[in-house]
Amino acid sequence: MVEDATRILSNVVASQVDIHARYGGIVPEVASRQHLTSILPVLKAAMGEAKVAWQDVNGIAVTRGPGLSGSLVVGVNVAKGIALARSLPLVGINHLEAHIYANWLGKQQPVFPCLCLIVSGGHSDLVLMSGHGQFRRLGRTRDDAAGEAFDKGARILELGYPGGPAIEAAARGVAPARALPRAWLKGSDDFSFSGVKTALLHLVQGEDSLSRSFVTGAAASFQQAIIDPLVMKTLEAAERLSVRQILLAGGVAANKALRDSFNDCSSFPVLIPPPNLCTDNAAMVAACGYYRLQLDQASGFDFDVLPGLSFD
Ligand code: KG4
Ligand code: ZN
Repeated sequence: MVEDATRILSNVVASQVDIHARYGGIVPEVASRQHLTSILPVLKAAMGEAKVAWQDVNGIAVTRGPGLSGSLVVGVNVAKGIALARSLPLVGINHLEAHIYANWLGKQQPVFPCLCLIVSGGHSDLVLMSGHGQFRRLGRTRDDAAGEAFDKGARILELGYPGGPAIEAAARGVAPARALPRAWLKGSDDFSFSGVKTALLHLVQGEDSLSRSFVTGAAASFQQAIIDPLVMKTLEAAERLSVRQILLAGGVAANKALRDSFNDCSSFPVLIPPPNLCTDNAAMVAACGYYRLQLDQASGFDFDVLPGLSFD
């Protein structure tokens, strides 16, 4: 629940991490069932924490994609039901845009034009934002997303799920010990992370057993090999386009080494949401919805989920 897109009244997250950790990754069928059992209690908790009644609510925002269709269907249908019952405007939101809007929930408001790096479990996009709702995608990953690479790398190093926080913890305070390749893709704003993942696999296959010092050194090297192209390519694009700010978004933006690297290397102001607003949350969807409704872009009731939605 947010007020004016900038003030969080409540932000309740029902994490499924513990459940999926048992399987080493997200199981779509389990995810949608969990959504179904969690969504009404979460809604109730969000209303309670915000201390608002339904008559205080001006609109409903819900993610319509990209994502797992089963989970999206649960959210969209509950949102439609509430909007219909309460005669509220409803707006279907692009989850990637919502990640960017986590930056409006801080003290410092973003200014346009800004360059947005969205790094999540399914996407790594470099996007020019010239106004509310105005996006041009410059680059994307050609294979694995940055978060996906962290998750796969953690599996290779037997560090568990979710991989990003596990790699970050293993690499904390450790110098990169191994040479791993970076995909620079010169002349393009695209990224690629499958090569570094394969190189890590070869490194592990060359070991008889995974000692703690090998794992931490490899984790630090792997983390750095993902961070370097993200930072350097974003800064290159920011200079070329003369943007006023860089905005980071998505679960991987919770990574401290990535945050530090941007803050150390950038001559542009860099906005990064606090870690709990980088990973999936409802407040960012509500902030995005606020601006969509300001632009008179309510969705109506006939929209469907779009699991493959992108910035194109
Ligand atoms: O944005 P998000 O919460 O969900 C998606 O929309 O995908 O991102 C989840 C991804 C996972 O791949 C997870 O491993 C990664 O973000 N992640 C991190 C960190 N925290 C979450 N990656 C690196 N360092 C972290 N601290
Ligand atoms: Zn996300």
